Amino acid sequence: MRRVYLDNAATTRLDPEVLEAMLPYLREEYGNASSIHTFGQRARAAVEEARVRVAELIGADPSEIIFTSGGTESDNLALKGIAEAHGQRGRHLITSQIEHPAVLESCRALERRGFEVTYLPVSPDGLVRVEDVHAALRPDTILISIMLANNEIGTIQPIREIAELVRRVRAERGQPYPYLHTDAVQAVGKMPVHVDELGVDLLTFSAHKIHGPKGAGALYLRRGVRLVRQMDGGHHERDRRSGTENVPAIVGFGRAAELTRQQLPDRIRHMRALRDMLEQGIEERIPFVLRNGHREQRVPNISNFSFRFLDGEALLIRLDLRGIAVSTGAACSSGSLEPSHVLLALGRPRDLVQGSLRFSLSKDTTREEIAYVLEVLPEEVERLRAMSPQYLERLAARDP
Ligand SMILES: Cc1ncc(COP(=O)(O)O)c(C=O)c1O
Repeated sequence: MRRVYLDNAATTRLDPEVLEAMLPYLREEYGNASSIHTFGQRARAAVEEARVRVAELIGADPSEIIFTSGGTESDNLALKGIAEAHGQRGRHLITSQIEHPAVLESCRALERRGFEVTYLPVSPDGLVRVEDVHAALRPDTILISIMLANNEIGTIQPIREIAELVRRVRAERGQPYPYLHTDAVQAVGKMPVHVDELGVDLLTFSAHKIHGPKGAGALYLRRGVRLVRQMDGGHHERDRRSGTENVPAIVGFGRAAELTRQQLPDRIRHMRALRDMLEQGIEERIPFVLRNGHREQRVPNISNFSFRFLDGEALLIRLDLRGIAVSTGAACSSGSLEPSHVLLALGRPRDLVQGSLRFSLSKDTTREEIAYVLEVLPEEVERLRAMSPQYLERLAARDP
């Protein structure tokens, strides 16, 4: 059976060139990067080389990169690390209602420690309003954390404008607060991401979303910003993240970052063309569908649709039986029956939210694969809808 993978927002295929770069560090180059002998030095050199590549991808200095186990750990380190380091100066944070659970749950954990968090609403197309950030600011706000691109609908937030506001507020106050963190896990590799152009102080990203291995991620921390490490132990990562470095995964992250930087314009063009083909095909072939998210301000690889008169999970399973892998939302929340907190925040009614699917493409997606999805999807949608009394009533009402 044909297999089509359209769940690249959950994770991506390891690039064969990345695997090639990693293999020596899984075989003969097994030294601990903290050891003094030659084995250790070779591992250290590989980690530092990867740090340069990873920093280059986002326009940072290598010393500003902290390697972690992934996006989740980077988000935890950013929020809890800043809160712990600067909690005596203020105990208020601002975030949005549509963040990834790694941010939202870190906020909840901080609330349990006596911090206060404002969860900003979003517009019906999924944008945070800069005026709302302004209105939420308090003299004791130490951190704003707003994602760059959303993982379910792909909407790109106005981080540059928020950074502009933050700069003004800091100048007025004569203070370094609030700091600005962005979760860029879904943005890196899908759009140019440059920390100085964005104006952020902290930025989270992850290797496995850019055809790198699982188990490696990074937190960009602007030079001079203090944070308390959340993993206690040795003095790794300049005392900001203890634990023996995952050398093969970090090497893979470095190679994936390098390839992403070289190929970014081509990848964007490729993904956008196929995404447009998919969206146009769905809208032409399937009635009663609604596209979720902003029309223009979004990454080129994510498409989210609500199909009326059916259950998204049932459709996901039917598509899987025909070899097509998609998602009902975030990978971490699938398996739970909770409706998507992102789509609910857009103001979509529950029945529509329950009928939603996310299609996410990558550089590896082909035109033939999209054509196959456009052949199979209308059939499976129709098959499920034929079991819906509301749909049949609706059809009968349309017939003269
Ligand atoms: C926006 C966002 N943040 C954080 C994460 C977590 O990253 P990781 O899977 O590397 O822990 C994800 C992964 O789905 C994500 O989409």
